[in-house]
Amino acid sequence: MYGILILLHILGATIWTGGHLILAFTILPRVLRERSPAELMRFESAYERIGLPALVIQIITGLMLAYRLVPDPARWIDPGDVAGRLVGVKLLLLATTAAFALDARLRVIPNLNEGKLVSMAWHIIPVTFIGVLFVVVGVSFRTGWFY
Ligand code: HEM
Repeated sequence: MYGILILLHILGATIWTGGHLILAFTILPRVLRERSPAELMRFESAYERIGLPALVIQIITGLMLAYRLVPDPARWIDPGDVAGRLVGVKLLLLATTAAFALDARLRVIPNLNEGKLVSMAWHIIPVTFIGVLFVVVGVSFRTGWFY
């Protein structure tokens, strides 16, 4: 069971973080250069179909892995507990991602035009950076980088 959870979690990470790195480093610069909201929307609508299920899988498998590692959820918010603290950091990263995603979905994307491309970039770049942090914190459970 642990093997399956880690496998799904890493597969989800490749899709979520990898997809955002492609978006931030290859699609976004072209979209800004050519001032083309249509190109961004083309990528978003194709990526969304696999990116959102991947995030849902991350959350489900992540919570199951966290529960396995630190069975008492009260420890997830205890700054004195090393493994629990890392779970807490992951939940904080998740809440920040959700806030950016909701703001983009509700406020920026509905009437995306040339004038809103920079605002969209200020959502894509932090979410990509947070995606990389998710991986760094995830790997640190095993490597002990932060304890
Ligand atoms: C897009 C979001 C996420 C990404 C990209 C991500 C990525 C990763 C990666 C790459 C690992 C390392 C796996 C290994 O050591 O082989 C990991 C481990 C882990 N992640 Fe995540 N993660 C995400 C979300 C979450 C969430 C929401 C939670 C829940 C709190 C979570 C909890 C964990 C735990 C507990 C581990 C350690 C598993 C273990 O070694 O037993 N992750 N994550």
